[in-house]
Amino acid sequence: MPYQQIRVNSEIGPIGAEVEGVDLSASLSTTVLEELRLAWLDHGFLIFRGQNLTPESHANFARHFGALDVYPFMQAVNDHPNVIPIIKEADAKMNFGGGWHSDTSYLEKPPKGTALYAIEVPEEGGDTLFADCGAAFADLSSGMQKFLLAHTGIYSPKLVHGASGDYTSSDAKKNLGDSYGGNKDFAEGEVEHPLVRTHDESGIQSIYCGLFHTHRIKGWTREESLPLLKYLNRHLTQDKFVSRCHWQNGSLVLWDNRRLFHNALNDYHGKRRHMHRVIIQGPVPA
Ligand code: SIN
Repeated sequence: MPYQQIRVNSEIGPIGAEVEGVDLSASLSTTVLEELRLAWLDHGFLIFRGQNLTPESHANFARHFGALDVYPFMQAVNDHPNVIPIIKEADAKMNFGGGWHSDTSYLEKPPKGTALYAIEVPEEGGDTLFADCGAAFADLSSGMQKFLLAHTGIYSPKLVHGASGDYTSSDAKKNLGDSYGGNKDFAEGEVEHPLVRTHDESGIQSIYCGLFHTHRIKGWTREESLPLLKYLNRHLTQDKFVSRCHWQNGSLVLWDNRRLFHNALNDYHGKRRHMHRVIIQGPVPA
């Protein structure tokens, strides 16, 4: 679509776009904000390069897309209650956000969007991959689509943050930093969401269940559910659905959790990576 105020380059892969000509720390006009909103809905994620953001200006930008949310497993930075640090030190082994997922889909109302800002990134490695789960759903057979639409998922933080979760079973403090923590009972909780969600603004139907936040299909065991969840994970991560963001210091990416999965690559051992993340409140998935 033609934009008057912003420049949008969508030649970066099957999904996503780079936006030029916008200083996110400035006060943005209604026209620019409306064009950004349309571009975000259209392309799923937007990359902005060369930004210079404080926690406050980062949060102020994200707030244009909705009220901000609080992430339950990481203490916010001192300067802002909605901005969390995502830091992998040079000697840490595990990273935060590795593995394909939509952010905190185990919440009753998962965030519709995430704005991630790069403060210090390695020159090589540490990219984030984005998969278009809408295109992946449309590519399934009508039989599989009907099956998924007719079933519900049980979503939970426990596979990652629970007592025997991936983040707690290893040396979490060393890997994820001192800010990592959270309520242990909440980490074992479960909610029901559809396996496929319909985007509340665009109407696009997207695969929503994943290996890390969907514990099982309702009425099935985890063991019975895993083959299908693994198949869907393989399906939606095919090259034809995936774009890559290579970060530079000062890059900000705004992504749509209602349509995309993402995966933070952990391929920069011995290097430090420091990001700030804000999440934007969303509706109950329909
Ligand atoms: C996340 O999953 O929110 C973190 C992504 C990243 O660090 O690239």
